[in-house]
Amino acid sequence: MPALLRSTSFSITAMTLAVIALTTLSSYTSANAQTAAAPDASSNKPVTEQIVDSLTKLAGGPHAGYRANHAKGIVTIGEFVPAPSAASITKAAHLQRTASKVTVRFSNASGVPNIPDANGNGFPKGMAIRFDLPKGVSTDMVVISTNGFPVGTPEDFLTFLKAIEASGPGVAKPTPVENFLATHPATLKFVTMPKPAPVSFATQAFYGVNAFKFTNAKGESHFGRYRIEPLAGQQFLSAEETEKATPNYLMDELPVRLKKEPVKFRISVQLAEKDDAINDGTQVWPDTRKIVELGTLTLRSVHADGSKFEKGTMFNPLTLLDGIAPSDDPILLARPAAYAVSFGRRLSNP
Ligand code: HEM
Repeated sequence: MPALLRSTSFSITAMTLAVIALTTLSSYTSANAQTAAAPDASSNKPVTEQIVDSLTKLAGGPHAGYRANHAKGIVTIGEFVPAPSAASITKAAHLQRTASKVTVRFSNASGVPNIPDANGNGFPKGMAIRFDLPKGVSTDMVVISTNGFPVGTPEDFLTFLKAIEASGPGVAKPTPVENFLATHPATLKFVTMPKPAPVSFATQAFYGVNAFKFTNAKGESHFGRYRIEPLAGQQFLSAEETEKATPNYLMDELPVRLKKEPVKFRISVQLAEKDDAINDGTQVWPDTRKIVELGTLTLRSVHADGSKFEKGTMFNPLTLLDGIAPSDDPILLARPAAYAVSFGRRLSNP
């Protein structure tokens, strides 16, 4: 059993369980407990690199050749067919009438490469989609299985991770992470929301969380967030099934399912209304907001060399085509730099 799962290394309460479900606490030692809770203001590293360092530490890494977050995954291939309604909100080439080839990587959260699929540390699940267009052009969507993010800024993310690092066994209560959660209601809400284990990656919905600006051929713009729904419907394991799930049940199930039938998702965008926060992923928009269908994703098989592909690939939520632009959400704008640090380390230490 990996150190991560030895509950004796960490006092398990409902709150800490929820916290580790977000990030991953592995190889917890009393040395970690001495770490300062606040980000190191004197560090000359950018916040994004400090976040990657912290994610790596919390995962018991570095784990050579793996992502600092969403380390365990499976790569599939298929195609995307745009819906006629997509052109009403964006002129982006992959959302017009022509189908694109897609490569999709599903993943567990955390930087632990062998994390059991049903373990709370592996939530939220991830989905990264690359749309390949002619002439080597591509664009990515990188989404998670929760509608919302625990923090609104990279600085808060780093402070939160540092607080987790500093909240190991033997630390006086309230621990730094308890203090953080007491002062950050959106983070508390996120870490305590139910995150049930899906039956399959094919039965899990995913959310873009960060807003983008969509512009159509007439020059009309809307802010929106991606929603990706499984056509099989959302299906989750019971508590008993979750308990009994094998460590790789999700990674094992998908290839078997794909041999029998294609896996389909509907990709849509939820449009913001006037007062909706477009720069803060902790603010979930009401379900009553208009949803515009963008098209259908059909996955047909597992990638023939997924391991090589995932090592050599960095999905980037800001690799965008004309007709889709980033919002000024600071989390969205920070992501490419953090991903590049993780990717660079993966390439230089395979
Ligand atoms: C400041 C906020 C964030 C930081 C610092 C961060 C950090 C990271 C890092 C370091 C990786 C590994 C990238 C690689 O090595 O290729 C990663 C992967 C990933 N992140 Fe984030 N992330 C953030 C926010 C988000 C958000 C808001 C979402 C979704 C809405 C998200 C979804 C994912 C997914 C799905 C992956 C796996 C991508 C793949 O399969 O290659 N992340 N993240």
